[in-house]
Amino acid sequence: MSETRWKLTDIPVIQGPMAGGYTTAELVSAVSNSGGLGSIGAGYMSPESLRLLIQKVKALTAKPFAVNLFIPTSPAVDLLQVERMKKLLLPFYREVGMDSVPELSYDPGLFQKQFAVVLEEKVPAFSFTFGCLKPSEMAALKSQNVFIMGTATSVEEALYLQAQGCDAVVAQGLEAGGHRGSFLDGKFPLLPAHKLVQDSVSQLQIPVIAAGGIVNKADMHTMLSAGAGAVQIGTAFLVCDESGASREYRDLLLKGKPEDTELIKVFSGRWARGLSNRFSREMKIHEADTPDYPIQHWLTTPLRKKAQESGRTEFQSLWSGQGLGALRACSVAEYMASLRQ
Ligand SMILES: Cc1cc2nc3c(=O)[nH]c(=O)nc-3n(C[C@H](O)[C@H](O)[C@H](O)COP(=O)(O)O)c2cc1C
Repeated sequence: MSETRWKLTDIPVIQGPMAGGYTTAELVSAVSNSGGLGSIGAGYMSPESLRLLIQKVKALTAKPFAVNLFIPTSPAVDLLQVERMKKLLLPFYREVGMDSVPELSYDPGLFQKQFAVVLEEKVPAFSFTFGCLKPSEMAALKSQNVFIMGTATSVEEALYLQAQGCDAVVAQGLEAGGHRGSFLDGKFPLLPAHKLVQDSVSQLQIPVIAAGGIVNKADMHTMLSAGAGAVQIGTAFLVCDESGASREYRDLLLKGKPEDTELIKVFSGRWARGLSNRFSREMKIHEADTPDYPIQHWLTTPLRKKAQESGRTEFQSLWSGQGLGALRACSVAEYMASLRQ
């Protein structure tokens, strides 16, 4: 039974890390200054940009905040599959004004460089998804007294993360926006957050953080009553004034309904919950032949970037949880006050 209480912040609210430029220094620091835990979603950031962002957050708040990274996975690259995918993607690239699918470009050593920045900058808290840190990485964070949180989609994953030394586990329910964090035995569990929290709390000794579809105070208390030590909220923070989400993306979230979201594989090669759009619908039939994450992610990155520059949401990944219909566009301070009252 999880007995350890959440002690890191005044109110048990974590602003979910969200890679892709949404977690601006203003967003992260405003959450921490309002008594919650702001998180930098740094999975796609260059080490240089990450360092600058951490320093900016430190300048804006003296309160704890977290940095989040993706545990690297290295699937075998099937060149024929990549070529087939490039042919399928070409018409989309042409629509945004690019005449070819750019060659795959990535840095296989990115995680190590990002992680080095995290250690050098001595951040208060660190979270991760898609797997687990290596023992040496865990030890390096622990030697700096960093609060460590891993992401689990099943009780088995939660127990694994606890055994590896995590200080808390994020229990990611099926309602959650963004990528599924599943990482054990090729399994893909899809449990509602409430059930996952209840089941995890009964078996873990560390705090369980509920994530998925949580928007208001009532949702939060439902999870805390189920035994969660804290809640992690993503989508509702995207529509806060301080977030880095585009006007078009915010508008879709604010007028969206829970059933407008679906689990999508074709943007990145890893299942993620987002708003269904033209790309997700037209590419759905190719799900089974989609290269694994992160290969597909790299193949579609220039398309999504170009689409974003021109405000074309039909080709962007619009990650969203199922809490749509209850979102409110306001400042972080106002939103946090509504959770606290
Ligand atoms: C746009 C977006 C990007 C996300 N990126 C990350 C990420 O980089 N790392 C991570 O651990 N979780 C990520 N998540 C998950 C959130 O941190 C959080 O757990 C989730 O949004 C909670 O569900 P909700 O959106 O229903 O509130 C992302 C979610 C969204 C909506």
